[in-house]
Amino acid sequence: MNFMELAKNRFSCKRYQSDKPVEKEKLDKILAVGQLAPTAKNNQPQHVYVLQSEEALQMVDTLTPCRYGAPLVLAVTYDSNQEYVYPGDKYTSGIEDASIVATHMMLMAASEGVDSCWLNFFDPDKAAEALKLPANERVVLLMDLGYAAAGTRPTPTHDKTKPLAELVSYR
Ligand SMILES: Cc1cc2nc3c(=O)[nH]c(=O)nc-3n(C[C@H](O)[C@H](O)[C@H](O)COP(=O)(O)O)c2cc1C
Repeated sequence: MNFMELAKNRFSCKRYQSDKPVEKEKLDKILAVGQLAPTAKNNQPQHVYVLQSEEALQMVDTLTPCRYGAPLVLAVTYDSNQEYVYPGDKYTSGIEDASIVATHMMLMAASEGVDSCWLNFFDPDKAAEALKLPANERVVLLMDLGYAAAGTRPTPTHDKTKPLAELVSYR
């Protein structure tokens, strides 16, 4: 499958086979691709928590209703002491860095036939507390990983993209 087909076929999976784990070999590849992602100044302020024990998954369920039965959830965080600060001292790169890492992992998962869903329907402060993170570490996203339950289809809006002309300008 070429990259365009991969990007078209990936969809946010909202129902998983909870008894079908993600194979360690595939998980290792997904995590390794996150390691290759670019970050501002190559600071690599991110950290990825693999949540797969029963206790950890129950903790996720206290934070969000969006695990959808996934047997594994990644929490992607960044350390605000390590992120890049833009000139002007107003903006920082941590969310961008963590998002690029997560996007790499999401697409690697798709390429390995593993379904996923990026989540931000949770309170980041409560997530940091539940994960016992230090004050300088922020949770940017959770990502469900697993295998879609039988009959699971992309949501009806999956194919509804705005026209390219609305999304791109040439100047
Ligand atoms: C930043 C971000 C946050 C999201 N948060 C959630 C979420 O909390 N719960 C959920 O079910 N889906 C979530 N999604 C999935 C989106 O709803 C989904 O990507 C979008 O509807 C497009 O569908 P598709 O990914 O199947 O193309 C999120 C996606 C992104 C990119």
